[in-house]
Amino acid sequence: MTEGSALIRGLEGVVAAQTELCDLDGANGRLAYRGYDIDELARQATFEEVAYVLWHGDLPKPGQLDQFTVGLIAARELPRDVVQAFRLTPRTTDPMRVLQATVAMLGMHDPDATDNSKPANLRKAARLMSQMATAICAHHRVRGGLEPVAPAADLGHAANFLHMLTGQRPAAAAVKAFDASLTLYAEHEMNASTFTTRVITSTQSDMHSAVAGGVGAIKGPLHGGAGEAVMRTLFEIGEVDNVDKFADEALATKRRLMGFGHRVYKAGDPRAAILLGLAEAACRESGQFKWFQMAVKLHKRIGDAKGLIPNVDFYSAPLFYSLGIPVDLFTPVIAAGRITGWTANIIEQHEDNRLIRPRGEYVGPKRRPYLPLGSR
Ligand code: SDX
Repeated sequence: MTEGSALIRGLEGVVAAQTELCDLDGANGRLAYRGYDIDELARQATFEEVAYVLWHGDLPKPGQLDQFTVGLIAARELPRDVVQAFRLTPRTTDPMRVLQATVAMLGMHDPDATDNSKPANLRKAARLMSQMATAICAHHRVRGGLEPVAPAADLGHAANFLHMLTGQRPAAAAVKAFDASLTLYAEHEMNASTFTTRVITSTQSDMHSAVAGGVGAIKGPLHGGAGEAVMRTLFEIGEVDNVDKFADEALATKRRLMGFGHRVYKAGDPRAAILLGLAEAACRESGQFKWFQMAVKLHKRIGDAKGLIPNVDFYSAPLFYSLGIPVDLFTPVIAAGRITGWTANIIEQHEDNRLIRPRGEYVGPKRRPYLPLGSR
């Protein structure tokens, strides 16, 4: 019998660390970063301010924000080799696989790559936040046979992201909605991808290695990959009038409905409520309102029938689609938000580290002798 706790599948409810970053109240559907409620941050803060809060602990004062922003802008350029690598990558490669490889390549070029000190990790966190945005957009342009759009030093992070993606200067409403989305995705306590970055960090490996692991974890459809899957579900349904029939068949066949359910939130995901409002405005503005109407109808049908709640990925899907983000870039965009939380957790893990090493309960064959080949 293995000494230690009994098996807890999926580590549900297991407290793996103490953290000052994220207060996630699953029973009451509330979320705060460093004590600041997510609703206020999404509505009033920029993503840059949220990154500063996660990395430095408090809202930045004006001079601090100016200096921080200058550093993020200066860090947007990609090493030439990385863009060259995009040109050599098969055009049909999943952008999340490209992003994971990109993070590893950025580690090859980062002067602080093997330095796990807090000052070095803060520098790397800012570089990764800026470079991942540039890389997602540059790869998308290259896979389309286009030249990357250079980062615009006069635009904030969210505006520059949309600018590099589309080649157009985005409208203020789109920037605000996208900026709020990045904030809503920034940090979420001990989710699978963040826990992955902590496990890798606990071996005293480096930030790029840990973030590459986080990218691999968030790629999965049960985690960050759900956003793309929600949009594909809406495409499958096709029209508002088809929602009820689809929902009833899905429930009858016990289909796993992407964008619904959560391991921790049972009363509701506060991020979904905010994204619902952002999606309604953006879908109306862009003439893509039917996708929002379909989402609302599906939310109601599934909620009434099975009591499942929409999670963060449910309404971000029609929102991202209405902002002109390609569906297979939804998960990279989610990673571009979560990079701030991953790096904050990596820094926190180093501050009070112990190797993360749980046990396994052996349920295999009893001890038995080796048999020579001739006697098997
Ligand atoms: C994110 O952890 C985080 O914080 C993640 C995240 C973050 O910000 O980092 O919030 C982001 O990943 C959100 C979740 C995105 N994933 C999806 O939308 C995929 C669909 N959701 C499910 O697969 C599921 O709800 C999970 C994975 C999110 C949570 O799964 P759990 O806690 O392991 O719950 P479960 O699979 O054991 O389900 C419990 C019951 C089951 O019914 P029974 O078989 O016991 O009768 O609820 C049912 C499930 O069948 N159920 C669903 C369902 N989710 C749960 N049934 C249909 N569709 C669903 N989506």
